[in-house]
Amino acid sequence: ESIEKGHFAWSAPSNIALVKYWGKKDNQIPANPSVSFTLNNCKTITKLAFEKKTNLDNFSFDLFFEGKPKEDFKPKIQKFFERIEIYLPFLKDYHFTIDTQNTFPHSSGIASSASGMAALAMNLMSLEKSLNPVMTEDYFYQKASLLARLGSGSACRSVKGQLVVWGNQANIEGSSDLFGVEFPYTVHENFKNYQDTILLVDKGEKQVSSTVGHDLMYNHPYAERRFTQAHENLDSLITIFENGDLEAFIQLVESEALTLHAMMMTSMPYYILMKPNTLEIINAIWKFRNQTQIPVCFTLDAGANVHVLYPNKDKENVLQFIKDELVGYCQNEQYICDEIGNGAMLL
Ligand code: PMV
Repeated sequence: ESIEKGHFAWSAPSNIALVKYWGKKDNQIPANPSVSFTLNNCKTITKLAFEKKTNLDNFSFDLFFEGKPKEDFKPKIQKFFERIEIYLPFLKDYHFTIDTQNTFPHSSGIASSASGMAALAMNLMSLEKSLNPVMTEDYFYQKASLLARLGSGSACRSVKGQLVVWGNQANIEGSSDLFGVEFPYTVHENFKNYQDTILLVDKGEKQVSSTVGHDLMYNHPYAERRFTQAHENLDSLITIFENGDLEAFIQLVESEALTLHAMMMTSMPYYILMKPNTLEIINAIWKFRNQTQIPVCFTLDAGANVHVLYPNKDKENVLQFIKDELVGYCQNEQYICDEIGNGAMLL
């Protein structure tokens, strides 16, 4: 089958890890399993146009971000194409035009690599499916997740499902280091439409990239214990998701966030990505939780922004608290209301 030209468009969401991926082996294999909530509103929308070309020696693509040519992302895409060519042997047959935009504010400090790489992977799988129509839906999504992983590890959790596990864990059926899978067990209704309000504390460029951070887990004095702990925490989460124990959930999720940052503070060289306002927000959340018994907690990714997590039924109270007491700690009072979503969508 040969196709001269055409185009697809997909959206893919960001995700927020509950058990964190931090540290990897060769070929984007995670050092420990992780699990994340898929988000709903923070996403990347990518249109991929393709057209057959005659020179088959190199990858060929143009990249536009929010309508403007974007040269500085090109090396990342080039590297991605090199990594996935063995899985998509047609890549050099086409010239691609990649048109991408995010629904969240530009340079908000929200990582767009997960949603961006997932959206591109979905488009490439649509082309693969056009060329080789005989494939199951499961295969389609699994391979999309595998490709996304090779773009950015956590991107493999942005493909399909509300709660996604990536990394081999003995007691999670179907889990794999190669791609994300939907959490296969019961999830208590306490977690239905779970809310994530993202407080934008610092929109600046991170001083230390995630790539460097992952590498610093080699020869890290606490790495082995940390990798074991991630397995233990994922194991505990299976029970927590089943019985809806929000107290246990909060304890585990906050500990994961602080452990991630503790790994940064205890690597060599050491570094700190939290800002003073990150700590102000954490303290205010603890105080509010103590006073009201509302089960709100925080998590962090590799940056200063704070994700405020809470059940849908407490939305009104928590949003009021955020407006009254937390927005003052945000850069330009900016925050983004999000909640659990379902994954990538063909547009
Ligand atoms: O996918 P990467 O290489 O950008 O790493 C993401 C790492 C964390 O966001 C800090 C944790 C995670 O599991 O998403």
